[in-house]
Amino acid sequence: MKVPVAVLISGGGTNLAALIEAAEHPDFPARIAVVISNRRHAYGRERAKAAGIPDVWLWHKKFDSREQYDAALVEVLRQHEVEWVCLAGFMRIVTPVFLDAFPGRVINIHPALLPAFPGVDGVQQAFDYGVKVAGATVHFVDTGTDTGPIICQGCVPVLPDDDVDTLKARVLTVEHQLFPQALRWATQGRLKIVGRKVQVIPA
Ligand code: GRF
Repeated sequence: MKVPVAVLISGGGTNLAALIEAAEHPDFPARIAVVISNRRHAYGRERAKAAGIPDVWLWHKKFDSREQYDAALVEVLRQHEVEWVCLAGFMRIVTPVFLDAFPGRVINIHPALLPAFPGVDGVQQAFDYGVKVAGATVHFVDTGTDTGPIICQGCVPVLPDDDVDTLKARVLTVEHQLFPQALRWATQGRLKIVGRKVQVIPA
């Protein structure tokens, strides 16, 4: 039986598309039970619909506090019997109301080699800094901003002719490899957090 997971988005959802594609394979251990967006017009919602996945628009502006929003999120996640949650370009800070409901079961993708360049616009930050190697990170979510234990990372070169958009596109290709890999390990029960470190238990 595949493990039901949720993917939370705010935008275009190319990472969602990579997860949908991975999950379509019979041997992938997870299935996407629901996609939740805080933005009504996030293109990722179209991707969810096209794949026949329930999609929920949960508008943050309808709620008075982050905690109330997160309580509503948890309710939707419970309705869909979700066991793991992927934050895939979900542009919200999450609170303990959410994290305590899914302890050690929320993972995020960040478009930089953490701990460098956390927060918004990771690729832009790295590009402006002048790094020669950029990349992406999948990590467990804790209450900090992109501070949780690292599951996996991938890197790409920054080329002399790059602008931030060409670099973003190159980083995204790595993201699309990393996130399905991390979710596979997670839902196979192969990730063990030891202090700050994440061990991947061999299959
Ligand atoms: C990705 O770069 C992701 O790392 C960041 O937001 C972007 C989302 O892209 N958190 P997409 O919506 O998956 O295309």
